[in-house]
Amino acid sequence: MTAVNSVAELTREGDIAVLTIYSPPVNALSANVRQGIRDGVKQAEADPAVKAIVLICGGRTFIAGADISEFGKPFSGVSLPEAQDAIENCSKPVVAAIHGTALGGGFEVALVCHYRVAVPSAKLGLPEIKLGLIPGAGGTQRLPRLIGPQAAAEAILSGAPFAAAQAKTWGVVDEIVAEGHLREGALAFAQRVIDEKLPLVKLRDRDDKVAPFRGKPEIFEAIRKANARKFRGFEAWTKAIDAVRDAVELPFAEGAKRERAAFLELLGSMQSKAQRHVFFAERQVWKIADIADDTPTLPVKKVGVIGAGTMGGGISMNFLNAGIPVTIVETAQAALDRGLSVIRKNYENTAKKGRMTTADVETRMGLLSSALDLGALADCDLIIEAVFEDMAIKKDIFGKLDKIAKPGAILASNTSYLDVDAIAATTSRPGSVLGMHFFSPANVMRLLEVVRGEKTDKAVLATAMKTAKQIGKIGVVVGVCHGFVGNRMLAQRQREAQALILEGAMPWDVDRVLYDFGMPMGPFAMSDLAGLDIGWSKEKTSSSTIREILCEQDRRGQKTGAGFYDYDENRNAKPSALVEKIILDFAAAKGINRREISDQEILERCLYPMVNEGAKILEEGKAQRASDIDIVWINGYGWPVYTGGPMFWADGLGLDKVLAAMQRFEATMGAAFKPSALLEKLVAEGKGFKDL
Ligand code: 3HC
Repeated sequence: MTAVNSVAELTREGDIAVLTIYSPPVNALSANVRQGIRDGVKQAEADPAVKAIVLICGGRTFIAGADISEFGKPFSGVSLPEAQDAIENCSKPVVAAIHGTALGGGFEVALVCHYRVAVPSAKLGLPEIKLGLIPGAGGTQRLPRLIGPQAAAEAILSGAPFAAAQAKTWGVVDEIVAEGHLREGALAFAQRVIDEKLPLVKLRDRDDKVAPFRGKPEIFEAIRKANARKFRGFEAWTKAIDAVRDAVELPFAEGAKRERAAFLELLGSMQSKAQRHVFFAERQVWKIADIADDTPTLPVKKVGVIGAGTMGGGISMNFLNAGIPVTIVETAQAALDRGLSVIRKNYENTAKKGRMTTADVETRMGLLSSALDLGALADCDLIIEAVFEDMAIKKDIFGKLDKIAKPGAILASNTSYLDVDAIAATTSRPGSVLGMHFFSPANVMRLLEVVRGEKTDKAVLATAMKTAKQIGKIGVVVGVCHGFVGNRMLAQRQREAQALILEGAMPWDVDRVLYDFGMPMGPFAMSDLAGLDIGWSKEKTSSSTIREILCEQDRRGQKTGAGFYDYDENRNAKPSALVEKIILDFAAAKGINRREISDQEILERCLYPMVNEGAKILEEGKAQRASDIDIVWINGYGWPVYTGGPMFWADGLGLDKVLAAMQRFEATMGAAFKPSALLEKLVAEGKGFKDL
């Protein structure tokens, strides 16, 4: 065995050199790895006793891509194309032996090898698009030459990894070898290459899969059209399509040069910086400052859900999907029946779309039981209360649960706003109580705010986070305060949106500005979708807000065909002349002199107070880090990922700009705009949230 450098070593097995890369955790292509590959291949090539080379990785995976943490830093050492050239132009066959995930630059390294073998569990793919990038080491040029431009464009635009079996069908992988026997399998394959004198296959030279598409721009137009909606606001995707088109239209070297230029341009873009920030933020979010990663957690084998409404049903589905039995409890048979049938219908709809089999539907429904009595939850490990947002009701339930639940059971509330400590205080075991705040629709939205009470035990918190991961959520630890992180910040935006329509804007102006910013919809369209009558009562209404007036006129949102907007039979929204009049009359009655409001003011008034509130949340320790707040907003409210979330976005703008605007607003509009002390401090020190 010869050490090539600190992460690469060469061993000999007969005629074959095995170059092993080991750079945990994921063998990312850091400078050391790139050098290890280049030098290792060159050393093996120079050894007259070697007739073929196997490139394999130690640890959990083949190379999982470029080292993202190196992006944006000064470049040093051997470049990736240099390492790839050493392989592709090697005079001896190089076989990539793939396990785990061969992603991005890792897959591109495999694509310059002359052959590829993989174990059945291996996955391959080009996820660069998720980082606001396109593949930058020949992926957009070699993959189309291997599988054709359409399949390649689809793989590059989805960024999703594909399984070894699919790779074999496409010819991306030459042979599947037995699980757990990658090294032997790769050696046997390499021996065959030697024995049968198989050629040194260079994908760059292949033309058969791209030639039929040459001079057919309509193919790429169709791809562009099919993806335009999905990528609204994103920059990288059109460059990805251009690069695949180049693979069809241009000689390899020229296409590769253009790909590299586009990759480097995107690498420097704000969008890619933002998406790389999100990549690391999504991994940071699981780390809790005072709780060790190896803290023992409690088993969650059976879950109870109280309330079979929209939230309770959605919450239950998460656990059923993960194969965890759920008992759902309601107070009345009719409500229970309705809840259960909605769950079934949801699954059946999924099955109709072909995303689940009917057997899957029955398996999930088979894990679901129901009861009208809390006593049925006595053997549950985790009980989630999802009833009406009323403190008295919640306190009553937790008082009862305290007597019913088995010792050690975790008692969680799905409250969106209420004081989890006050709820915990109604039990004799506040250490077992926390909030698990799901977002609607709870079976779809990825965010879970895990609300840490003052007395929540560490093991309970760690278990809730682990459970979040198990059911495919992204868990964010938040502290007890009104609305936690997400809704607390949302309240700032809602207040300003309402104020703006009285001062001079119209609902569709506010919605357009926020939609153009990248939100899935604006606040008024959102209200119409959710229903304006949430929390509204016919008996108590007094025309005191625009929303009340709309409800009084039976404009209760999309479901009644009218709300802030008018809706046609296909639920397309149109600005409403009637609503305009209601707003103008209301403002006049309040003595408000309406004025022209610019789009810029709408944006600043809606978003800067949110950033300011985020700063207050950090100041009070209700979120662990600014990037956690970004994760909440991206995954719970559809904040555009390409801006990195509200806090990253504000850093990019310059916090001095945000502070100056807040001070200006405070001077004219009052205390709601008072800048947070943290914001002032950061600006005074010339720092950003990223420096905390
Ligand atoms: N660069 C740097 N660090 C990376 C990394 C990468 N490419 N991939 C993963 N890591 C780090 C993570 O940050 C994490 O660090 P932490 O433990 O300190 O938090 C650690 O490795 C383990 O990662 P995960 O927690 O994500 O582990 P999983 O086992 O859940 O997932 C994975 C493994 C599927 C490889 C996943 O990490 C992943 O998807 N990685 C990114 C892959 C990727 O995007 N590659 C393309 C990069 S861009 C590129 O290659 C450009 C090229 O075209 C030139």
